[in-house]
Amino acid sequence: MAAKVTRSSASELDRSNIARAFATSGLVLKRAQGVYVEDEKGKKYLDMTAGGTTAVGYSHPRLTKALVSQVSRGIDHIDRQTMITEKASELTDELKTFVPNPLAKGKAVFGHSGSDIIEKAIRLVRFSTSRPVIVSYYSAHHGANATALSASPTLKEMGTNALSRFFNLPGFMHMPFPDSYRPWFADGSKAGDDCLAFLERLLSSVVSPRLVAGVLVEPILSLGGNVVPPDGYFQGLAKICRENDIPLIGDEVLTGIGKTGRMFALEHWGVWPDVLCAGKALSGPLPLTMLLAREDLADKWEPRDYVGISKDAYILGCVAAVEILRIVRDERLVDNASRVGSHLEGRLKDMVDDLGLDGDVRGKGLMMALELVESEKTKAPDSLRARSVVREARRRGLVVGLTGTWENVIRFLPSLTISERNVDDAIDILVRSFEAS
Ligand SMILES: Cc1ncc(COP(=O)(O)O)c(C=O)c1O
Repeated sequence: MAAKVTRSSASELDRSNIARAFATSGLVLKRAQGVYVEDEKGKKYLDMTAGGTTAVGYSHPRLTKALVSQVSRGIDHIDRQTMITEKASELTDELKTFVPNPLAKGKAVFGHSGSDIIEKAIRLVRFSTSRPVIVSYYSAHHGANATALSASPTLKEMGTNALSRFFNLPGFMHMPFPDSYRPWFADGSKAGDDCLAFLERLLSSVVSPRLVAGVLVEPILSLGGNVVPPDGYFQGLAKICRENDIPLIGDEVLTGIGKTGRMFALEHWGVWPDVLCAGKALSGPLPLTMLLAREDLADKWEPRDYVGISKDAYILGCVAAVEILRIVRDERLVDNASRVGSHLEGRLKDMVDDLGLDGDVRGKGLMMALELVESEKTKAPDSLRARSVVREARRRGLVVGLTGTWENVIRFLPSLTISERNVDDAIDILVRSFEAS
């Protein structure tokens, strides 16, 4: 006879059935609508972190209708090796309306997670260039499989547990990401130039460009602490890649689909990569990711080199992504993200001044964050305060994220449908949370 399970609290539910390593915030959700979520006790929260996986707000009626309509038509899955649906091609056409040539003439590859699409991007450039080395950044985050982890050297993912070394694959080299607030070199006033010089030195004295299959970059470091590079850096990076004939892979899994106030974050700097990876909010509630690669690169990748996954380009994921992209366009959500993002940045900066906080407000569009330090002079991370403010905000009905190497960066990444009024509500709660902690 099956054991009867009784649980009295959410945290107990978390602990009784779900492995400790699968850490959650302890919030157990019952319902989600628009920019709000509700827990199992009926308490409502303004969710300022949903943008990671949601662009159009929770339970958007058009998305629900599109999914229900597809289910009622009956194709729930086909094996990509025997058949493909029109939807996968329709999705590719739809995504291409947001990018210029040569990507708009490029080809798509599908995946299930950000980690998966990053791994496929790496395979694609390796096979199409016949070169082994991928150059990525210290403190980057590209996902959780061994390939993505190898491109993500951080203290958390690589540095604290001897066992994590076993996920470290050969063929990866790393370089510093330009961080003007916590510079790798000198005083940070030339962080972009210094990091470009590092790459040039790497290519002239450590690894020949003829061995480099690609440079993989997040436009804004995510788990690295919402770090935005100085203007000019990406233009310089693209130039070095072009001059050395090295494909640039843009990891827009988190930053893409409007969250920074542009459809793709690299647009802020007028740069388009040779391989563009999208995920998370692309397909909202369903796990579908994709990349667009320059045609000449994609066409050099032979079918015999492609090890896909049975459900690549599965139909419900494609239906969701097509509808989400159309909603983003029809509701002009990228413009909204840009406008409300400026408001959020202004309100955060005012809050820092009013409360006399030490730290740094930075980001683009709605991907905005506040790094807390103990003093401007030492810049010692104030992780304790950040954690306690996030906890207090939760108690008061606001969900904000915590990121950064030392988890001292409070991050906002709401859905693109967020309003200025929602931002004002969030800041009011945050101010009271700072005062209480
Ligand atoms: C920039 C970036 N790339 C890739 C990934 C991996 O995506 P997923 O969690 O869907 O595997 C993430 C996830 O946080 C991310 O932020």
